Amino acid sequence: MSFNDLEMENIYDKLKPVIYEKIAQALCDPSATPILDVGCGDGKLVNFLAFELKKRVFGVDVSDADFGSAGREAELKKVSHLVKFVQADSKNLDIFEDNYFGAVVSVYALHELGDALAVLKELNRVLKPGGKLIIADFIPGGEAERLWGERYYTIAEFKSMLNLSGFKFAQTEKDFIYLYEDVIFILALKLFPKKFYSPFEFMTFF
Ligand SMILES: C[S@@+](CC[C@H](N)C(=O)[O-])C[C@H]1O[C@@H](n2cnc3c(N)ncnc32)[C@H](O)[C@@H]1O
Repeated sequence: MSFNDLEMENIYDKLKPVIYEKIAQALCDPSATPILDVGCGDGKLVNFLAFELKKRVFGVDVSDADFGSAGREAELKKVSHLVKFVQADSKNLDIFEDNYFGAVVSVYALHELGDALAVLKELNRVLKPGGKLIIADFIPGGEAERLWGERYYTIAEFKSMLNLSGFKFAQTEKDFIYLYEDVIFILALKLFPKKFYSPFEFMTFF
């Protein structure tokens, strides 16, 4: 790996505090609780959100390799009582009931989670209606793709998958914010179920 490549990796890392701050700002309203971080890795975002927002935050990852250091950091930040790290595959979050979370976040991870549409449907299930979904991830055609040779979703794919999994976009002008040339920040809301009128309810109109 060349010096320039290391510099680029560094840029994506340096972007994390910006992403964390943006997520905290978006989730400061009281209804956005508890929070789930999907593909939480070393748990830094989980501990950050618990510390900043004083809310309950769960981190889910298929690997528990970094949960030890995540727990130690939680102790240092005095947020152990607010955080929980759970080893699970994001396609199957049966451990959480329907409509449990006020917000779900995922940073630099969605492209790694396998069948993203299945994951988004599962995230929709565990979110409360009106709950916020925030995704920060790479898109194709940039330095990240060249560095790691991974397959990223295009904006059109994100839009289609979010529509198919029951989300609507929260911003009218900018559904997708570019944090860097190939890093996007998406804010979407879980749609409320369509109201079903029973024939009896309908009769009361007359
Ligand atoms: C690139 S890392 C990002 C970690 C962290 N969000 C960050 O910003 O540093 C992607 C994470 O997704 C996790 N992951 C991969 N497949 C997963 C799956 N099916 N379910 C849950 N987590 C998964 C990996 O173990 C890894 O920790």
